Amino acid sequence: MTFDRKIKIAPSILSADFANFGAEIRAIEAQGADWVHVDVMDGHFVPNLTFGPPAVKAFRPHVKTFMDVHLMIAPVDPFIEAYADAGADLITAHIEAGPHIHRTLQAIRATGKKAGVSLNPGTPAESIEHLLDLLDMVLVMSVNPGFGGQKFIPSAIEKTRKVRAMIGDRPIHIQIDGGVDPTTVGPLVAAGADCFVAGSAVFKGGSVDRPEVYGANIRAIRAAAMAAL
Ligand code: DX5
Ligand code: ZN
Repeated sequence: MTFDRKIKIAPSILSADFANFGAEIRAIEAQGADWVHVDVMDGHFVPNLTFGPPAVKAFRPHVKTFMDVHLMIAPVDPFIEAYADAGADLITAHIEAGPHIHRTLQAIRATGKKAGVSLNPGTPAESIEHLLDLLDMVLVMSVNPGFGGQKFIPSAIEKTRKVRAMIGDRPIHIQIDGGVDPTTVGPLVAAGADCFVAGSAVFKGGSVDRPEVYGANIRAIRAAAMAAL
């Protein structure tokens, strides 16, 4: 994957039909998704429980674009290999998940996958200062992680501006995750973000039988993002 800062929409399958992941992944990709965002939750780091490595392995053959795996788990190091083997293209770990984020990112890179770090709303942008050479992406959380459909936290906008300034011209994506929709995406683009996770804003009103709704929702987010460039 060559790096570019083109606007990317990454629907989160946390908002998909849990009885139909293969069909849902194929549907969002057919309807314009750039990446597929997989929210891994362990019921410890966040108060919810989702996908183990076998589930992610089952998703893999349906993903033709890019499988972006967001690990909301602690500890994270014991599971990096398993999610890499399951087929993740990029693995994001939370800086808050343990004392050794630098080593965690080295371990992700050692698997040959792209490496991302995620910052919860209370974690300062400056905390990535000594990680920049190990990063392919910074994920700025705009909700407290654990669930889809939560309210956007506006302080993510200023934090994105700070992260963008720290990155300079390094090939590092800035991804925003949580409460992204056509009304919140514009200021985030203006602040320097290029990748947008959206769960409820993509899946709402649609289904595998009505995938055109997914397409309309993705286009609405993309249009609002492009308008802010
Ligand atoms: C929250 C997850 C997000 C969530 C986004 O912990 O990391 O990816 O699924 O859902 P929406 O877009 O509905 O806020
Ligand atoms: Zn996520």
